Amino acid sequence: MNSWFQRLSEEGKVAVSPSILSADFSCLRDEVLAVEEAGADCLHCDVMDGNFVPNISFGPLVIRALSKITGIPIFSHLMISEPAKYVETFADAGSFAISFHYEAMEKGHDEVIERIHSREVMAGIAINPDTPLGAVEHLLGDLDFLVIMTVFPGFGGQKLIQEVLGKIEEARELRDKRNYRYAIEVDGGIKMDNAHLVREAGGEILVSGTGIFKSDDYRKAISLIRGV
Ligand code: DX5
Ligand code: ZN
Repeated sequence: MNSWFQRLSEEGKVAVSPSILSADFSCLRDEVLAVEEAGADCLHCDVMDGNFVPNISFGPLVIRALSKITGIPIFSHLMISEPAKYVETFADAGSFAISFHYEAMEKGHDEVIERIHSREVMAGIAINPDTPLGAVEHLLGDLDFLVIMTVFPGFGGQKLIQEVLGKIEEARELRDKRNYRYAIEVDGGIKMDNAHLVREAGGEILVSGTGIFKSDDYRKAISLIRGV
């Protein structure tokens, strides 16, 4: 297991991953350094192609630039229609971890995971709120992390869909039962006042965009989301 993930699992600690989608892009460098300084464990980069999701964000150029200034691992969350085409590009741009959507392809998920791994990058699959865990069951043994979406992807600032919390518990039980290694990342609508629900359900990497970047105290927001 990669040492970053190993530490996460051994310490039983929750990692907080600010999503830069809600940062002030006119001073992105300062924003990233500010969340890093405020205790962020990793950085969540939302890549949207205007096709898989109805919004366009940014691509590998931004990730490459950020990889030069930040000391924390970059998680690239690919919300794009053809992830297979771009795995190498996002790996080379400096991603520590790459997740892509189960819903973006009909088949070939296992090959994409293999290609992410061949670049020595951590591999994750993201599932939408209405995708059952069973859909990715055959892939779970190969994953470093599973991304459970608690909003439909496309935009920051949406409300967390509480009905999805049960899926987090299910993912945790299944991992224990099968002795898998994947960490459970939860993405969408997590804020200081509801993060405890996600932690209690078993979320281990908590993504938060507006919950951190629209708060007036990044350090406070990160530590309240982490719960310590
Ligand atoms: C949604 C993105 C999320 C989002 C999180 O499409 O994948 O990562 O930016 O932002 P908040 O925390 O504002 O829901
Ligand atoms: Zn995301």
